[in-house]
Order: sequence, then C-alpha cells, then structure tokens
Amino acid sequence: MTGKPVIAGNWKMNLTPDEVREFFQNFRPDFQDRGQPELLVFPSSVSLFAAQVALPQAPSISVGVQNIHWESAGAFTGEISAPLARAAGATHTLIGHSERRHVFGETDEDVSRKTKAAFGADLVPVICVGEELDERTAGRLTEVIVGQLDAVLPSLQGARGREYLLAYEPVWAIGTGETATPEDASEAHAILRERLKEVLGEDEGMRAPILYGGSVKPGNASDLLKAPDVGGVLVGGASLDPDSFAGIAEAGAFI
Ligand code: 13P
Repeated sequence: MTGKPVIAGNWKMNLTPDEVREFFQNFRPDFQDRGQPELLVFPSSVSLFAAQVALPQAPSISVGVQNIHWESAGAFTGEISAPLARAAGATHTLIGHSERRHVFGETDEDVSRKTKAAFGADLVPVICVGEELDERTAGRLTEVIVGQLDAVLPSLQGARGREYLLAYEPVWAIGTGETATPEDASEAHAILRERLKEVLGEDEGMRAPILYGGSVKPGNASDLLKAPDVGGVLVGGASLDPDSFAGIAEAGAFI
C-alpha cells in the first residue's frame, strides 16, 4: 500500500442537514506539521447537499453516498443511481456494507453490479467485506472474505488502485464495542491483499488501500492504523461526534 491513510466516517441513518452543518462547524482536527490523511464522510443522501455546502476550506474532505442502485436510471422508487449521486456531488460510494448485506439481503452479485455502476459514473467504490462471528469461529474467515472479494474482482480488472478502496469490517465488531485487535485486522487484510495480488498482479494488487472498520475510536485508531496493511479506517458511531472523529483523523496524520 502506498499513499495517505484514509479516514472515513459512515454516518449511516444519522445527522440531519442542520446537524451536518453543526458537525463541520466543530470539526477541527489538528495535524500539527504532519500530513493530512485523506478524509471522507458518507452522510445520509438527504444531508449530502448540506454536507457539501458546509465543508470547511481546510482540512479538505470528500463526500460520498452510502449505497447506489446498479441501474443508471428508471422506475426504481426510493433508489439512487450512481450518475445521480455523482451529479449531486458525491465522489465515493460505499458498496456491500454489512448492514446492506445482512439487513437488506444484498448479494455478492448485487455488490458486483453496483461496483460496475460506480466505475461507470466515475464514483470511487468503497467495497466492504467481512465475516460474521459464527463464520469466524467455524474457521471460515478466509473462505468468507475471499468469496466476497472474488465476486467483485472481475469488475476491478483494469481499475487502478485508489480508483477503488476495500474495507474489511468484521460483522461482530460493528457497533458492538468489540474491536478486532490490530493483529486480527492485519491477518484479514493480508488474506485480501494476497488474493488481490494473485488476480490483479503483484503491482496492481498492492495499490488499493484496505480500510479496517468496526468499533474504531480515538483510543484505538492509532494502533489499528499502525498495523501492517491497514491503510485507513471506516468509522461508524465514533464519526458522528466531531471531536472524536477529529481525534481519529489526527491518528491518521502522517510524516
Ligand atoms: P462502528 O464504528 O459503529 O462499529 O461501525 C462501523 C461501520 O459499520 C462503519 O461502516
């Protein structure tokens, strides 16, 4: 992995437009004289515009959506297409978040189609994979996360690293306060990295950052970010508070 760490906040179904404005008034990370990490936030789509208007001059922050449909337009009530999201100012989209997979029944096939739709509209997909607790305890970590990755690999052929990001989010660590250790994160990231290199080739397989997500907080972000092949973090609950998200962003400042 090369390049800046990525610090991303997934606001899920939280933060009204007013709350988003207030968030940015209070978001003041201090990177001292170190480099600013790449910062991303994923507001609810109804707060996307408010987020763009309220973005500070510094630090620079990109805004994405939490989900897209795979079709570019049409009779899909309640859905948002990749071109719509792009035209509304999103530069990134989450794809295959575990809540989409497990609460809304999204399949690997959906994840693959959405990834293609994102590339087609010039959105950077942040493709999420992760195992459930019973899968991990049954020794199926590799099978599950490589299976989820394999479903999107054909869509990644030809894309350059950083035109997409991967996120490893163990389902048992999301919103539970149960954080994977830096060793757990590295182990899973190494599995994903090996598979990327196998399929995309040594150079290209090294390029995309792999983010860790699951109960990341200011107190554990630094250790996680220092772990081998952890290229960033995808933060849920702790990204809703500007001070705590600033603390995590500061942990991603680099020399
Ligand atoms: P928490 O940080 O609340 O565990 O959520 C993680 C997540 O799902 C980010 O996408």
